[in-house]
Amino acid sequence: MTAFDARIKETAALVETALDQLLPRRSGPLGRVVDAMRHGALDGGKRLRPFLVIAAADMFGAPRARSVRTGCAVEMIHCYSLIHDDLPAMDDSDLRRGRPSVHRAYDEATAILAGDALLTQAFEILAAPETHPDGDIRCRLALELAKASGKEGMVGGQMIDIYAEQKNFDLAGIEELQRLKTGAIIRFSAIGGGIVGGATDAEVEALRRYAEDLGLAFQIVDDILDATADAQTLGKPSGQDAEMDKATFIKLLGMDGARRKAAELVDRCKAHLAPFGARAEPLKGAADFVFARKS
Ligand code: IPE
Ligand code: IPE
Ligand code: MG
Ligand code: MG
Ligand code: MG
Repeated sequence: MTAFDARIKETAALVETALDQLLPRRSGPLGRVVDAMRHGALDGGKRLRPFLVIAAADMFGAPRARSVRTGCAVEMIHCYSLIHDDLPAMDDSDLRRGRPSVHRAYDEATAILAGDALLTQAFEILAAPETHPDGDIRCRLALELAKASGKEGMVGGQMIDIYAEQKNFDLAGIEELQRLKTGAIIRFSAIGGGIVGGATDAEVEALRRYAEDLGLAFQIVDDILDATADAQTLGKPSGQDAEMDKATFIKLLGMDGARRKAAELVDRCKAHLAPFGARAEPLKGAADFVFARKS
């Protein structure tokens, strides 16, 4: 196991325990939505976004309790986005993280509500004093996560993604779509780690540049895997992008071109970490992981 593998495993375990505690089971009618939230959020996924939060915050010596909570908030947003992305009205996917997607394990209404509740709870976590004693920092985290999640971020990207099925996009259009759909939440993860760790504005800016390129590389690799890997390995259906005629880099650049573009972006994103020196090793490792991942 590489040092990076050990590190992402360690932080994923911290996040798993924290999410489990943040989502205690309930009895009665409420129990159903909580069970569906747990199905969508626990025991699965690479936990890349909380890893980025924690690795960035570690560079500034932030207490882990704070960065893990910030990581849980962003992971809740991510899981909500996956639950809704899988709904019949969107990608109509039956499989997620190797299990039935939430609307298959429960029903559509429950899946919509579980997503809504995860989205809302993410902001509850950021607003609570346990995340950071300084109210200004909490407010900044909530502001940045809101911007990354809403119409100028993930939701906007998902809207364009659906619309793109009927439209031909050029390279700049696809780049914009991916920056919003996937890039915005990844960008929050890196800068959110900096903010919770007390980074300077210049340091947050360097993290932003790193994450912009990383997010784009991440979605290109997601599209490559959709076209080349099988559902068993991915834990989610494959071949869906071509079937639904999604706007992807592969469509415009071809497979080799898309791979080259992802490799370039990964090199470039690591260069943005130069100001942090050796402290940025885990974030560099994350970039290599994004490129080399098989699921
Ligand atoms: C999948 O994200 C959805 C995209 C934004 C492309 P991940 O590949 O990070 O999914 P998990 O969290 O590991 O399941
Ligand atoms: C969805 O992109 C990204 C989200 C905002 C959830 P995809 O539709 O490509 O994600 P997968 O491939 O289903 O994980
Ligand atoms: Mg989708
Ligand atoms: Mg999908
Ligand atoms: Mg995909």
